[in-house]
Amino acid sequence: MNRLRIIVLSLLTLVTVTLVAACNTQQPAAPAPQPQPTPATQVANITATYVGEQTCQSCHKKANYDKTPHYQSFKPLSAYKLDKTYGTVTVYDGAGNNAKSTTVDLSKALGVEMDTYVVAEIPKTAGFAKQFYRVGHLIKNPDGTYKIENPGLVQGTQNWSAGDYSCAQCHSPNMGAAGKPDYTITCEGCHGPGSAHVAATTSEQKKATMALPTSETCLKCHKSDPTKDKTGAIVTTNHYGTRDYTFSKHNTTGMINGCLTCHGVHGTNANGRLLKKDNPNDICATCHAGKNYDVKTIMWDNKSDPYKHITADHSFTAIPESATKVNPTTKNVEIVDPKALDMVKKALPDLAK
Ligand code: HEC
Ligand code: HEC
Ligand code: HEC
Ligand code: HEC
Ligand code: HEC
Ligand code: HEC
Repeated sequence: MNRLRIIVLSLLTLVTVTLVAACNTQQPAAPAPQPQPTPATQVANITATYVGEQTCQSCHKKANYDKTPHYQSFKPLSAYKLDKTYGTVTVYDGAGNNAKSTTVDLSKALGVEMDTYVVAEIPKTAGFAKQFYRVGHLIKNPDGTYKIENPGLVQGTQNWSAGDYSCAQCHSPNMGAAGKPDYTITCEGCHGPGSAHVAATTSEQKKATMALPTSETCLKCHKSDPTKDKTGAIVTTNHYGTRDYTFSKHNTTGMINGCLTCHGVHGTNANGRLLKKDNPNDICATCHAGKNYDVKTIMWDNKSDPYKHITADHSFTAIPESATKVNPTTKNVEIVDPKALDMVKKALPDLAK
């Protein structure tokens, strides 16, 4: 920190302390102020339905949005060149113990999650436990076309067992909601349903009916905390992309604006990534000039995940690779360094149990 900032900060502190002291002497028994609802809770209390991305774009043009990985994470089946015409298949209710079956027309599926899972709505009359299921597995053929295979088989049979799509919570956050929900992650996936905002007439009302998301919004899907695996080991969470962000000084010092310091969300960089600069190292250099931080080394990849989810470390050396080892039974990345483990257990007491 430079000298000028220290002086300014000290002066500000002095002024604040004097003011607080002055107030204290003049009003000894001021009643505690009533907590005001935050803008975010005010917006959350508004009843609204989904209007769809096209409507948002009609007033707020985010021209590059459709190229983002968020938008691209769920596509219609027509986006893929299939190797033949797929029609009706019989699927069993995987979520309900395969007790019931129904037929689904694959050509009418809602779309494909993460280029892999064919998702369909099961009619209520079928009596399945849930409404949306992964009814097929999309697989790329060597010639570049795609085939649809079973998403898993009922044990001991060749019957297709439909997989629960609780993944929707993060991968299709608006699915099944009222209005015109998109199946992929669009504007309303982060901003929330927009009908009240669209109906609002004044600029004031427009602002009061629409949330400006923060890192908290991102962390609902990009969970960052370590968890326990089935052997009881404390492991870094690989699925969500932000391994151990909770522990980074970027988070704990509160000195930077969370995810949005480095990530843009309304468009991509030249390499199709949600990063504010084309070369990620240039982002670091804006604050850590002279340190020559190299993202590829600092944000170490976990290459051992049993599900092959390889994600970049976001603890920014709070949990370095040397504080971990691969658990031979589960292949998960286990946090083993006593100091790092202690820090994790203090922040997340549930893991200490
Ligand atoms: C009919 C035009 C219109 C449509 C449709 C519309 N907006 Fe807005 N939006 C506005 C206006 C006008 C403002 C206020 C601008 C100002 O005064 O700063 C605004 C403000 C916002 C803000 C800033 C809020 C704030 O607190 O500063 C966000 C975020 C936003 N809109 C998102 C959306 C999303 C998401 C959708 C789709 C669900 C959407 N808008 C649809 C016109 C529209
Ligand atoms: C991944 C989450 C996410 C998605 C998806 C998203 N936004 Fe935003 N949006 C944010 C955040 C976070 C902010 C806060 C300001 C910022 O960018 O730093 C914001 C700010 C805004 C604002 C006000 C400031 C500005 O940039 O104009 C508008 C308007 C807006 N978003 C509209 C949209 C529209 C339209 C879409 C869809 C095409 C969309 N957003 C999709 C997270 C998102
Ligand atoms: C709590 C939120 C959440 C849930 C629930 C969730 N995911 Fe994800 N998933 C994510 C996020 C966030 C990413 C992106 C991580 C990244 O970009 O590194 C992701 C990434 C993925 C990927 C790509 C992983 C890779 O490294 O290639 C696949 C495939 C996937 N999810 C499938 C699923 C399936 C199938 C389910 C349900 C059984 C599911 N997810 C449930 C949040 C979630
Ligand atoms: C200090 C900068 C910085 C901050 C803060 C940051 N990130 Fe990142 N993030 C990066 C960089 C750089 C990459 C690319 C790493 C690479 O390509 O090796 C990245 C990669 C990612 C990825 C892709 C991971 C993968 O390997 O698949 C996701 C998802 C992500 N960040 C989400 C978030 C979220 C959500 C937050 C807030 C909780 C956040 N990031 C905070 C810099 C940052
Ligand atoms: C509704 C769940 C959800 C929310 C909210 C969300 N994301 Fe994501 N995010 C995902 C999923 C799913 C993916 C994987 C998409 C893919 O790979 O196609 C992803 C991918 C990413 C990536 C990796 C893309 C790349 O560049 O490789 C980044 C970075 C990212 N999100 C940042 C953010 C930030 C920042 C926010 C908050 C402003 C946010 N996300 C909010 C679900 C979410
Ligand atoms: C907006 C400013 C900002 C940006 C951009 C930024 N950082 Fe930081 N970084 C900080 C602050 C503030 C701290 C905490 C104070 C400190 O320890 O210096 C910090 C701390 C760190 C630390 C921990 C240092 C220690 O001594 O424990 C590492 C490592 C780090 N950052 C790496 C990166 C990398 C890599 C990038 C780029 C992907 C990056 N930072 C981008 C502001 C930033």
